Order: sequence, then C-alpha cells, then structure tokens
Amino acid sequence: MFPRTKFTAFVATSIDGRIAKNPKELSSTWTSKEDWVFFQKSLPGFDAVVVGFNTYKVSENRLKKRNTIVFTSKVKKPKKVGSVTFLNVNNSDVFDFIKKMNYKKVAILGGPRVYDFFLKNKMLHELSVTIEPLVFGAGVPMFTGEKFTKYNFELQSAKRLNKKGTILLKYKYAS
Ligand SMILES: NC(=O)c1ccc[n+]([C@@H]2O[C@H](COP(=O)([O-])OP(=O)(O)OC[C@H]3O[C@@H](n4cnc5c(N)ncnc54)[C@H](OP(=O)(O)O)[C@@H]3O)[C@@H](O)[C@H]2O)c1
Repeated sequence: MFPRTKFTAFVATSIDGRIAKNPKELSSTWTSKEDWVFFQKSLPGFDAVVVGFNTYKVSENRLKKRNTIVFTSKVKKPKKVGSVTFLNVNNSDVFDFIKKMNYKKVAILGGPRVYDFFLKNKMLHELSVTIEPLVFGAGVPMFTGEKFTKYNFELQSAKRLNKKGTILLKYKYAS
C-alpha cells in the first residue's frame, strides 16, 4: 500500500509498559539522559514526525520547528500552521497526506492512540522501545488496548544504554 514511506515509532516506557504518569506529564522527567541523546540523534534522519494533540502540547516549542503532523478532532479539514499540520483522522486520509508531502521517513512519537492508529493500519514498520528500569503500577499505557490483537515483531538489536540498566530495543514489524 505504501512502499515508499517507512514509519518508525519511538517509545520510552517503564518496565510495566507505561509511557507517562498522566496525559499532561512530560516523559523527560523520568527518562534517562542516554535515551534523550539517542532520540535527538535519531530525529534528524526523518522527514516528519506524527504526534497526538496532548503530546504536541507538552512539546510544542520543539515540535513547531519540525514537519509535524498532529492528530486531533479539533479540526474538520487539515490545518497548516507553519510546519505543523493538524489532521482529523476521521475525515482526512493521513496516508494520502503523507504521500502528497513526499515524506519518505516518518517518526511516530505517540501517544497511545497515535501508536495504535499506525499499528492497526499495519504501518508500524519499525519500533524503537527504550525500557527504563522503573515500575509505575499505573499511568498511560503504550497502546490503547481496545481490542486484543497479536502483532508479531522481530528483534533487530538490543543495547544497554547505561549503568542503571536502561535498555534500547529495536524491532521490525513481521506480520
Ligand atoms: N514515553 C513516551 O515515549 C511518550 C511518547 C508519547 C507521548 N508520551 C506521553 O503520553 C502522554 C499523552 O498521552 P495521550 O493518551 O493523551 O496521547 P496523545 O496521542 O498525545 O493525545 C491524544 C489526543 O490526540 C488526538 N488523537 C490521537 N489519536 C487520534 C486519533 N486516532 N483520532 C483522533 N484524534 C486523535 C486526540 O486529540 P483531541 O482531543 O484534540 O481530539 C486525543 O485526545 C503525554 O504525557 C506524553 O508526554 C510519552
């Protein structure tokens, strides 16, 4: 369907699969410096990033400088403000838009509904997961988990990023 664009998701998580304490929290309050360095080094390799409205709000200043696509129900049709485009996935074709923009490499930065959207459409070609050695017990899950579905990923690499045991896992979508 989309042979020319590669979608890569980046996610930092606790051991128990939580990506934030609540939707308003900045993930950088608990993620490691080493993950931040890896993430910042990775981003220039992408033509655009995709985020949900809440994730956009917590990182607006940084995301305004990139080609950013923001999923939101607050717009009826695509709205462009500088390099940021607000899209309603219910009445706009996201993949058509990305094709039109000729983006070849797109980073999916979350949150859960955005990761889910690409996963359900079988468009999460690569998944980069940083596991911080923490357990939250509650909080925002990595995916929305509305319906049980098994997606298979193949591990490409595993790397320990620091002494405390932050682990970077890179997966490729298999089927
Ligand atoms: N640790 C990490 O790697 C990581 C990564 C990303 C985010 N986070 C954290 O996660 C939290 C955000 O969580 P969140 O659950 O609020 O996720 P979010 O995806 O950032 O925001 C959800 C909002 O995005 C819009 N949206 C997303 N997907 C949509 C879809 N398919 N259709 C229509 N609208 C859609 C909706 O906005 P409207 O209400 O405007 O319709 C929805 O309310 C923040 O604290 C952020 O820092 C952590």
